[in-house]
Amino acid sequence: MPIKRVAVLFSGSGSNLEALLEKLHNKVFNGTKIEIALTITNKKDAGGIKRSQKFGIEPELIEHKDFDSREEFDEALVRKIKKENIDLTVLAGFMRILTPVFTNQIKAINLHPSLLPLFKGANAIKESFESNEPRAGVTVHWVSEELDSGEIIAQKSFEKEKKMSFEKFKEKIHKIEHEILPETVIKLLCEKMN
Ligand code: GRF
Repeated sequence: MPIKRVAVLFSGSGSNLEALLEKLHNKVFNGTKIEIALTITNKKDAGGIKRSQKFGIEPELIEHKDFDSREEFDEALVRKIKKENIDLTVLAGFMRILTPVFTNQIKAINLHPSLLPLFKGANAIKESFESNEPRAGVTVHWVSEELDSGEIIAQKSFEKEKKMSFEKFKEKIHKIEHEILPETVIKLLCEKMN
């Protein structure tokens, strides 16, 4: 049975990492097994560390402050990912801007909490909530040199409700994230080649 090895990079609470672990780790889809073979974080206090450990996966800590440049940090990421023979890298709340050292060498997808190309960058949820846009949602896209600008793979959207609180809005975004990211990984790695 083919096994596809996935790396997940995170910087924060790791709720998307947990969704991937719960829904995909060591599970078989269309005759292909998905293994979350590697998790990496750049933050030693990231909440996702405990979530990874809960599944028996000790995250690699690669802290950007230990490197003299973005490129050297990215090179360390690339080395680790290559060493683990990873088929697909998933940025699940990895809050680092990656240089071509990474984007030219690693096949990676990113989760972004807006309907790209609207609201790129780190404040997408708030900007999307405060905008006049009638709809909001989540995007999964290929990672390219330009931030939040790679080819879009999947999007899920919903109609914004006038009286919806920001808390409720964030909850809805994260709920969609926890669905669309695992679904997209399965599609990319396990879709029957017709
Ligand atoms: C998610 O909203 C993701 O879209 C954004 O960072 C957040 C990560 O959340 N890039 P978590 O760490 O997966 O809970």
